[in-house]
Amino acid sequence: MEPVIDRSSSIEQPQVPLVVETFNLGKFYRTGFWMNQKIESLKNCTLAVSQGETFGLLGQNGAGKTTLLKTLLGIVRPTAGSALLLGRPLGDRAVKQRVGYLPENPYFYDYLTGWEFLQFAAGLFQIPRSVQRQRIPQLLDLVGLAHSAAVKKQLRQYSKGMLQRIGMAQALINNPEVVFLDEPMSGLDPMGRYQMREIILSLKSQGKTIFFNSHVLSDVEKICDRVAILARGELICIGAIDELLGTTETYRVQGKGGHLNILKKWIPDLEVDKDLWYGHLRGNPKDFLANLAASGGQLIGMNLAKPSLEEFFMQQLQERGIYSSS
Ligand SMILES: Nc1ncnc2c1ncn2[C@@H]1O[C@H](COP(=O)(O)OP(=O)(O)OP(=O)(O)O)[C@@H](O)[C@H]1O
Ligand SMILES: [Mg+2]
Repeated sequence: MEPVIDRSSSIEQPQVPLVVETFNLGKFYRTGFWMNQKIESLKNCTLAVSQGETFGLLGQNGAGKTTLLKTLLGIVRPTAGSALLLGRPLGDRAVKQRVGYLPENPYFYDYLTGWEFLQFAAGLFQIPRSVQRQRIPQLLDLVGLAHSAAVKKQLRQYSKGMLQRIGMAQALINNPEVVFLDEPMSGLDPMGRYQMREIILSLKSQGKTIFFNSHVLSDVEKICDRVAILARGELICIGAIDELLGTTETYRVQGKGGHLNILKKWIPDLEVDKDLWYGHLRGNPKDFLANLAASGGQLIGMNLAKPSLEEFFMQQLQERGIYSSS
């Protein structure tokens, strides 16, 4: 029989390959003495990440971010749905050679020096010694640990920030196409965070795909092309940062007088300074103005404001009753 060829696709623009694809992915853990309690850490998670993209996964503590990363890496098995990593089913051995991973709270071998640890990691990937001799100093330089004190120190003598950096070097030892980073900024001082951002941006400029979890939303905003928010194991939104922030128009309002309870209802982040108040309006401006006038208040200023990623994040959680500012 003649093979079916989709001719329509051959005249379309070439598509960027997908690196991560999940289809209704789910994971529950069994806990309790009799293992009869279920914790649903991930529910119906469907997303796709393209080659070369920097993708940020956001969510509160316990939202399921690490669970999603571990599932994609084949460290834990999904209990529902399916997923592809670099076009192959999860757990594919050949794919592991093309992937880098910086775990959350990494635990490394205390009595190895930084150099020895990277040699060990390189050995796991069967990287030849001649390549190791070139790559290890390059990576130590990239993560700011090239000075002899760091190279010769045992990891038990490393600070938290140094461990995070050596963890990053280890995640890149096999020159991976896709890098999974679980809280890469954790434990870093402001300079360390800046350097980590620069490292991620340099990986991005090399065309690598980066999938990372973070609580530092200002960093995510600077680095990521697209983000997703997980809440209680469910994806509540996903998209390009500009698109997401553009969909939520907010007005910064300033005024005086009016009833405090009414103001608080309309302006969740209300701040009062003497007889003036200000904050971001939630809801229809016309209705707000009518309510304000009825309660004897007066509007002094109103400007359209694009929310920061942090404001957008809080708003998404508030709208779903997951977070309350009061
Ligand atoms: N091995 C496990 N056994 C039982 N429950 C687990 C296990 N690992 C995670 N969980 C639960 O799954 C949920 C999601 O945890 P996860 O670590 O994925 O969250 P997270 O978004 O990474 O949080 P954080 O920001 O604190 O790192 C939590 O309720 C957690 O207690
Ligand atoms: Mg986590």
